[in-house]
Amino acid sequence: MTQVHEPHERRILGTELLWAIGVGVFVAATLGMIVFTALTRDINPPSNVERIDPKTLHLSGEFAEQNLGTAVAPDGAVTVRIIATQFMFVPRCVAVPYRRLVTLRLATPDVIHGILITGTNVNTMVVPGFVSQVHTQFTRSGDLLMPCHEYCGLGHSEMWATVQVLPQNAFQPDRNGRVSCAQR
Ligand code: CUA
Repeated sequence: MTQVHEPHERRILGTELLWAIGVGVFVAATLGMIVFTALTRDINPPSNVERIDPKTLHLSGEFAEQNLGTAVAPDGAVTVRIIATQFMFVPRCVAVPYRRLVTLRLATPDVIHGILITGTNVNTMVVPGFVSQVHTQFTRSGDLLMPCHEYCGLGHSEMWATVQVLPQNAFQPDRNGRVSCAQR
């Protein structure tokens, strides 16, 4: 019996080993790609955990209507606040400076949305009950498209905003520290 089974066993071991090597290479390549993009392209999973009440976020505080959009603090820090709601972004256009650190903060009063800004490393979900925060630097100027990329209802495909990347001389805060999109 053993003489009959041994070559058979060996062949099974051989193919198992091949599969193990194949899967090992695949897992190593996937992990390698995650580490590579994290180190070279600043693509990381969002790490900010910050709660906000979706029922009252529009009434007061940083997501009240008058605080939405781009604000420059006295120390020069640029923060953009956006509400993602069925089926639009408020505001529909935000101005940001070219090659300066920008903090994006988003919240939603209704359902899960998602945003990405084309050609940048900005890509995050916007989940009811949480503030999504992303830090980035815009290294291309002009108008970038920011679509909602998480199906949020019938108007999902109509939900997008524009990110206007302005050169330093055009990015001028008013006396309240606010910058709006240039009218064109
Ligand atoms: Cu909002 Cu899809």
